[in-house]
Amino acid sequence: MNQSSQTPWNPGSWKAYATRQQPAYDNPLSVAKVADELATKPPLVSIGEIERLQGALEDAAAGKRFVLQGGDCAECFADCTEASLTSKLKVLLQMSLVLTYATRKPTVRIGRIAGQYAKPRSQEFETADGVELPVYRGDLVNSREPVAELRKPEPSRMLDGYHHAAASLNFIRALIEGGFADLHHPEQWDLSFIEGSTHRKAYRQAMDAIVDSIRFMETIGAAHAIETVRRVDYYASHEALLLPYEEALTRLADNGLYYNFGAHFLWVGYRTAFPESAHIEYLRGIQNPIGIKIGPGSNEDDILTIMDLLDPKHRAGRLTLITRFGETAIEEHLPRIIDRVKQSGHPVVWSCDPMHGNTETTANGLKTRRLDAIFSELEQCFAIHERMDSTLGGVHFELTGDPVTECFGPFGDVQESDLMRCYETACDPRLNGAQALEMAFLLARLLR
Ligand code: PEP
Ligand code: CO
Repeated sequence: MNQSSQTPWNPGSWKAYATRQQPAYDNPLSVAKVADELATKPPLVSIGEIERLQGALEDAAAGKRFVLQGGDCAECFADCTEASLTSKLKVLLQMSLVLTYATRKPTVRIGRIAGQYAKPRSQEFETADGVELPVYRGDLVNSREPVAELRKPEPSRMLDGYHHAAASLNFIRALIEGGFADLHHPEQWDLSFIEGSTHRKAYRQAMDAIVDSIRFMETIGAAHAIETVRRVDYYASHEALLLPYEEALTRLADNGLYYNFGAHFLWVGYRTAFPESAHIEYLRGIQNPIGIKIGPGSNEDDILTIMDLLDPKHRAGRLTLITRFGETAIEEHLPRIIDRVKQSGHPVVWSCDPMHGNTETTANGLKTRRLDAIFSELEQCFAIHERMDSTLGGVHFELTGDPVTECFGPFGDVQESDLMRCYETACDPRLNGAQALEMAFLLARLLR
């Protein structure tokens, strides 16, 4: 197939292209049956919300807003609980407060929450206790349990995924609408993440300064400004990976355009972002804003081909380029990519994912990430954009509100010897709440 932005598209046209990272279902008929049922389900998000995010990202592309995207590497259905969702939302809100204060710009919050259930994998198989098993591909596909039968891809998990995403999003919306995120009362946000942190004072200062400004606006009756802080905008995102699922949630809207109604924002992963990719074919037909992961192996000609397919009209904010090179590779690669993207004229949002290029394995086989490597990539990313007269418009983190020990110090509350204590991730190592907030403060110093 010759992929082009002029070729007719439909939600299933991806099937004629190179499909990587898809599970091998035993029974295609049951996949079709599940997809038919999914296609009857109500949308999880609305066009108005998607277009509002598109507008916010247009601002971010122009340097007027800063994007904070974060959440789990792989959400598990079992984590769809009040406690887990509340604490994840809290971390994101607290980080965004610090970033808003530092940048003096509104923060766009996008969660890797409510649908981040499918994972690309580097290997097809893994060995557990001497037995070779198909890898875990996320709760949307198979079970994390290291049991051969449960590792078989199960189509009905797509329905479970939809229902867990719906429950998660419903709860987060209820929290936000109910005033949980009201900037008038950030003092009500549980501060346990920063108890004992060296940033405790700085956080209080940021919070007090923001509350003061709000009181001032109320005094002078700046009604519009007050309404803006009363409720925050929050958006849901996940990797558009499992294509039968994404296709089933894609609908033609009354305005004659197609949208994915399963999330506001979708991104294409590093492993599936290549020309002639089924994932690119799928994404080019939907109106939702789109992220593209870019790493050391990304070739700039390919990136340009993909960008022209996804954004033929050069719409500001349509594309967010999420770079994830690693602290030792960013200097070699980011400048060449910035150069080419600049020449192309696509008005993109640049985001830094300092997680995925900085994964390492400890002597006892645990996947981990060092906080200093994560911060070093952020610092270099920021400096390279500045040097090249470009703008870093956002950041992308894997984090959780639970007190896990998956990434470690030199700074923060976890040392390498603590890693085994609470290592729970279903996929990549995540920052815990305290580490995530620490990162926000370090980042704030760069952005000020
Ligand atoms: C991810 O974001 O969880 C991921 C798999 O990233 P990447 O595609 O950049 O490797
Ligand atoms: Co990950």
